[in-house]
This record gives sequence, structure tokens and C-alpha cells, in this order.
Amino acid sequence: MNKKILLTGGTGYIGSHAAVELSTRGYDVVLYDNLQNSSAAVVDQIELISNRKCEFIQGDIRDTALLSDTLSRLKINAVMHFAGLKAVAESIEEPLNYYSTNVLGTLSLLDAMLHAQVFNLVFSSSATVYGVPAYLPIDELHPTGPVNPYGRSKLHAERILSDLAVSSTNWSIISLRYFNPTGAHESGLLGERPTSRPNNLMPIISEVALNSRDRLQVFGDDYDTPDGTGVRDFIHVMDLAEGHRKALEYIGKEKGFEIFNLGTGAGYSVLEMVEAYKVASGQAIPVEIMTRRPGDVGACYADALKADTVLGWQAKRSLKDMCESSWRFYTNSSNRG
Ligand code: NAD
Ligand code: UFG
Repeated sequence: MNKKILLTGGTGYIGSHAAVELSTRGYDVVLYDNLQNSSAAVVDQIELISNRKCEFIQGDIRDTALLSDTLSRLKINAVMHFAGLKAVAESIEEPLNYYSTNVLGTLSLLDAMLHAQVFNLVFSSSATVYGVPAYLPIDELHPTGPVNPYGRSKLHAERILSDLAVSSTNWSIISLRYFNPTGAHESGLLGERPTSRPNNLMPIISEVALNSRDRLQVFGDDYDTPDGTGVRDFIHVMDLAEGHRKALEYIGKEKGFEIFNLGTGAGYSVLEMVEAYKVASGQAIPVEIMTRRPGDVGACYADALKADTVLGWQAKRSLKDMCESSWRFYTNSSNRG
């Protein structure tokens, strides 16, 4: 059951790590990506680490016919839907692009799945759907209230999934709300290498450690947090990948629609991240304190008890693991380019 899995966005950061996790556990993985924020070279890295072949199809998720043909032809059992756009600031400038990719793209995938009679889906959602935290830690019952088009596009997609699961008992769908994925595969062969300029904290810190940026701009040191800088629930990308495998095992057994947070339950501040990365890399990481970044909240971290209780999943890796694996990836000369 559920042995052949299609990963949309499979050459991207999180999709590629999930592909390694699934492939090393004996699943056949098929990657589907239009390569707008990743490279086909990632396929070789996945095959190298897992020591198994994986198939790659270059295509857009809005190409329903290609998706439908792929699902039927390759006899896919389940889909993990990672493909999407994820930069908050860009989503404010280009909302139509975000709704087209994240909402219409998801609709297109669902149409293709219905046509091919594939009813098992794990969806990449985000803690951003919660908006400004009303309380901490954030559990799945926390009200949603996204404050930007990116977050709203994810929430629209979740609502479509929820309605679909009500429409027929065939469907088995899980939405995973990620907190802040960081780090890289332990081998140093696979990590976060977007083709667009990074916006997230960890890739920017690593650019400073690698001397390709002169300093980290810290957006605000006057939040109501222990050191005044933003606090987030950073989660190792391989823990996240394992969470996807657990979700897949669950949808093999249960029908309907379920939402799970994937986080560690612990928060680290921007300055704690900088310190941890300094230790892992042995490099200086100069910082400059700036004003707050519009749209940021002070602290955000998960209550991940539901994933533990229902899926039997817990994040295991430490902040040190996140920083060391990231540094290993960025200093591995075979990854340069
Ligand atoms: P990523 O950009 O590394 O990966 C996304 C992949 O989707 C890329 O390889 C890109 O080329 C592909 N893609 C984009 N538009 C496409 C389209 N129209 N058709 C086909 N492929 C397309 O991003 P990621 O960090 O791996 O994120 C994966 C998913 O997780 C996204 O849906 C994102 O919204 C969600 N998410 C990410 C984070 C994070 O901080 N990284 C946090 C919460 C949720
Ligand atoms: N930060 C800096 N300087 C930088 C970049 C970030 O100080 O150059 C700070 C931010 O102000 C924030 C923290 O680092 O306090 C984390 O910022 P990120 O941009 O890395 O992450 P966010 O929590 O803002 O958002 C991320 C993803 C969203 C996702 C959200 C919740 O970008 O897509 O996590 O999962 F929705």
C-alpha cells in the first residue's frame, strides 16, 4: 500500500529531503517539478544518498493533463504536494502569482488525482495560516487568520482539501503545517539551494558565515522575548521529512482530512541562532540591529502533541544538528555552483 509516491516540488528544499527519506525506506519516488526554484541536479543527489533510482518529470502543477497522465501511467498510490511559492514579501507584490500557483495549482493537482483515481494526499501547509498568535504554543485548534497573500493561499488550499474530503469517503488527506524548516541532510550532499535569493534566516546566516554577505540584519531587538529578537520554532528538515513518512503511513489506514503541526515545540531567538551557527561554523557572523520587519510577530512556536499522539512522530534533532548539517552542506565543494 502507498508504495509509489509522486512528490510535486520534489526537487525543492523540503521535497528533496522527503524524497531521500521515502526512497531509503523502500518507497518508489517520482519527482514532478517545473524547476523554477530548484535544479535537476538534485535528482542525482537524492539517488546518490538513497542508492536507488528516482524518476523525474519536468512539469508545471497547473498542467492538469500531464499530471493526470503521470499519475495513471506510473500507477501512483499517493501524492505529496510540496510545489508552491513561499516568500511572504513577494506574495504581497504578486498576489495573483501566489493564488495561481498555490490555489489553482492545488486545484489542478486534485482534478488530476480525481481523474486518475488517486485519493491519498499529504499537503505542505504552513504555520503562517495562524497569523498573529493569540496564545503560545500554537496547537491545531488555534484560530486561523493569515495576514498576507501567501498565508491566505495556503488556507484557501486547505479549505478546498477539507471540502473534498467531505464530498467522498475515498479521500485521505493530511495537511502538515510546518513551522521553520532549517538544516540539511546529514551527508552534506543535499540542502537548501534556491535559485531565487533567500529570504529566510538560516540561509542568510550561512551566506554571512561564507563571507558572501558582510552581515546579518536582525529585524528588531525590542520584541517581548528574552533577548528582544524574534523567536521561532526551527525544525530540522530531516525531522520534517520523517513527519511526512509518518503522515503517509497514516493516510494508508485512515480516510478523511486531518491537520497536524510539525514543529519541535521549542523556540530559539535570532541571536541564539547566530550563536549556534558561529559555533558550528567557527566563523564570525557580524550582525546589525535594524527596525522590525513589517508583518513579523515576536514569538511563534508549535504545540506538536497531536503529531506525536496520532502519527507517533516527534522531532529528534537539535539546534546543533541543524547548524552543523547546514554548514556541512554549504562547505561541501561538490555543492558549489
Ligand atoms: P522550494 O521553493 O525549495 O520548493 C518548491 C518547489 O516547487 C521548487 O522546486 C519549485 O521549482 C517548485 N515549483 C514552484 N512552482 C511550481 C509549479 N507551478 N509547478 C511545478 N513546480 C513548482 O520550497 P520549500 O521550502 O521546499 O517548500 C515546499 C513547500 O513547503 C511549499 O509549498 C511551501 O509553501 C511550504 N512551506 C515551506 C516553508 C519553509 O520555510 N521552507 C515553511 C512552511 C511551508
Ligand atoms: N530575520 C532576521 N533577519 C533576516 C531574516 C530573518 O532578523 O535577514 C528574523 C525574522 O525577523 C524572524 C526570524 O528571523 O524573527 C525568522 O524569519 P524567517 O524569514 O526565517 O521566517 P518566518 O518565521 O518569518 O517565516 C517562515 C517562512 C514562512 C512560513 C513561516 C512559518 O518564511 O513561509 O516561517 O512556518 F510560513
